[in-house]
Amino acid sequence: MAKNMQEKFWDSLWTNAQICTAENGYGLIHAGAIAVKNGKFSWIGKMKELPGNPHDLAINVHDLCDKTITPGFIDCHTHLIYGGNRAKEFELRLQGVTYEEIAKQGGGIQSTVTATRNMSHEELLQQSLLRVKALMQTGVTTIEIKSGYGLDWETEAKILQVAAMLENDLPITVKKTFLGAHSVPKEFKQDSDKYVDLICEAMIPRIAKEKLANAVDVFCEKIAFSLPQTKRIFATAIQYGLAVKCHAEQLSDSGAAKLAASFHALSVDHLEYLSVEGVHALAESGTVAVLLPAAFYFLREKKLPPIDLLRQLHVPMALASDCNPGTSPTTSMLLVLNMACTLFSLTPEEALLGVTIHAAKALGIQQTHGSISIDKTADFAIWDVTHPAELAYYVGYNPLCSLIKEGKFVNLF
Ligand code: NIG
Ligand code: FE
Repeated sequence: MAKNMQEKFWDSLWTNAQICTAENGYGLIHAGAIAVKNGKFSWIGKMKELPGNPHDLAINVHDLCDKTITPGFIDCHTHLIYGGNRAKEFELRLQGVTYEEIAKQGGGIQSTVTATRNMSHEELLQQSLLRVKALMQTGVTTIEIKSGYGLDWETEAKILQVAAMLENDLPITVKKTFLGAHSVPKEFKQDSDKYVDLICEAMIPRIAKEKLANAVDVFCEKIAFSLPQTKRIFATAIQYGLAVKCHAEQLSDSGAAKLAASFHALSVDHLEYLSVEGVHALAESGTVAVLLPAAFYFLREKKLPPIDLLRQLHVPMALASDCNPGTSPTTSMLLVLNMACTLFSLTPEEALLGVTIHAAKALGIQQTHGSISIDKTADFAIWDVTHPAELAYYVGYNPLCSLIKEGKFVNLF
């Protein structure tokens, strides 16, 4: 049966497609068709159930010759607006110096902060555009972008303003997250609580007032912010009507995921050191577990997130690139799908849901994005594959044919 409401004329119709709706698993429809009107899905079903001849039904008709359609991918965790790069640090880590040691010596996030503070809006925009375009070339139609390489008001605002400029310049949806609590800036090294005062008393109120972001994230970790500091920042975010997210249990178990769950966080991210108690807290609060296999790979981590327990307790697992210069310099969602399977033992189906419907939930946009469903935004990708499992299977091969944003073909440059 076609799941549809019948319309006389659609703007566009894609025919002879294999459709992976991401509704109830892959949600495959063979020999299917998709119609779009006003940027939304208005008909989804089998070709043979179409209520007439394709050319009588839609203004534009595209025959897909059995290619596969998936929802547009959602990269729900990135830090892609930054200056410089950290290839030197990569060399050091390969010689055995750890990520924490580099951070303690003033490298790591701090070095990117210096480079980012020194760049203009325009310079940051030009560099970030390249990264966003590269992500789009792997099927991405929505991204989340965090600030966090400014650590002062001016630069944090600059990053979020550049994020808004990216959304203006490209056919992509951008969700913005304030991550002022990414690292303690050198100006406050002796008194991190003073920086937390600044975040809570000045920065978050202004972020909310100027609508620069709709969520607040904290890096809760020994080398960043403590559990009580994280709690204070979350309470302030909620007070100002902002959603909460958390970099939790990436390098150690600090109980951040449980704390974030108690604030009904949209997501907790990383989670290599997540405890059994933490998984139960996520299951109860409905918080999404965002897994970042490219960061795990790049840091050559050994400790795996508790995938079996997350799966057993039905915690939705999303995947993201974590695109950033220090721990995950990647711009390929296809690589992320592959790594989630090879490194974290997700099934290709779990991986696909991780970059679609579960990623939408991690951003609080699952009512409008993340699956191919009537009335949702018509964001989708067309792939030259015969089964969606192939998207997680290839390592570095890109079978993307076309990307559609709100019902329109995207120029993939
Ligand atoms: O998600 N964990 C903290 N933040 C980033 C890394 C930032 C950096 O090293 O520049 C992450 O891994
Ligand atoms: Fe991150």
